[in-house]
Amino acid sequence: MHIPIAQPSLGNEESAAVLAVLASGTIAQGPVTAAFEEEFAAYCGVPHAVAVNNGTAALHAALLAAGVGPGDEVIVPAFTFFATASSVSMCGARPIFADVDPVTATIDPADVLEKVGPKTKAIIGVHLYGQPCDAGAIREICIDKGLVFIEDAAQAHGAEYRGRRTGALGDLACFSFYATKNMATGEGGMVTTTSDEYDERLRRIINHGQSEKYLHTELGYNYRMTDIAAAIGRVQLAKLDGFNRRRQENAAYYNSHITAPGLVHPSVASGRTHVWHQYSLRLTGDFPLSRDEFMAYLREHGIGCAVHYPIALSRQPFYAGAATCPIAESLAASVVSIPVHPGVTEEGRAYVADTINGVI
Ligand SMILES: Cc1ncc(COP(=O)(O)O)c(C=O)c1O
Repeated sequence: MHIPIAQPSLGNEESAAVLAVLASGTIAQGPVTAAFEEEFAAYCGVPHAVAVNNGTAALHAALLAAGVGPGDEVIVPAFTFFATASSVSMCGARPIFADVDPVTATIDPADVLEKVGPKTKAIIGVHLYGQPCDAGAIREICIDKGLVFIEDAAQAHGAEYRGRRTGALGDLACFSFYATKNMATGEGGMVTTTSDEYDERLRRIINHGQSEKYLHTELGYNYRMTDIAAAIGRVQLAKLDGFNRRRQENAAYYNSHITAPGLVHPSVASGRTHVWHQYSLRLTGDFPLSRDEFMAYLREHGIGCAVHYPIALSRQPFYAGAATCPIAESLAASVVSIPVHPGVTEEGRAYVADTINGVI
């Protein structure tokens, strides 16, 4: 059996939607992107969604719309993909790393409070692996200190915090539709917001800083999504809840069937729903194999696996000199993700659990 760690779930509907765009002749941005934006905003429960060409562009544009620039600091979790922090650096601002909660692996509000200073402009809360961060606590800090709350929802389309979907928890929220994400367009992204002002500013930033055609009022970029990607996105959005249910079923199966000693299952905090972009186990000293040995064992048995992420941002060479974040650094040394995507069948997940339990 071969079970990849990730694979997009694409069908004839996506193919037909792309062919329709090709036949229309509008292969750059047009009406299909506008329709995708409207549907995505409605799904999240916000008035605005601005489509972009990837999740990193979404973060960069959101930070710029929030007014982040040179001299500013933005607090980000130390345990996330590099783009959460590099997008801050792209603005000429400085990311300040907060440690993460040891149970959920999402940003720790208590450490955020420690890191807020006079230069802090914004906080990025990452909904890591598909579980919302403690958005209520982060929002309170932002309100209290006059900061902008940006969600990095690249891994958490459709997840909920106290009954509200990601995309509607912060001032701005950023999504990725990269090929491995819960919904995919190949490359793609979206920024959602409740603010008319942010919406207007975002639309300028992602389109060369134009306030009208050939009138450039600020520095902008070409971060536009194409209608080809948007056509795939509309179909994927309609399937998203079904995809997430499959991920939830696979994760529930692993939680009850992976019983090898020395492995800690991921857990879901109360008041949150998890959409399992990744199912990441933690190895403790009681597990009989090292992480490298375990991953080699899984691969020998045809099971894809990966480490998200092997180096905490506080230890990345590009951010040399950053203060240590011990929990993020210990998670980086002990996590392993196993396949949880909708393409994992009932037979496949049973094989994964049996193979892992067979380690001892
Ligand atoms: C947490 C997080 N933030 C940002 C990104 C960047 O998204 P993209 O790869 O679409 O640029 C990703 C995904 O790769 C991610 O997982």
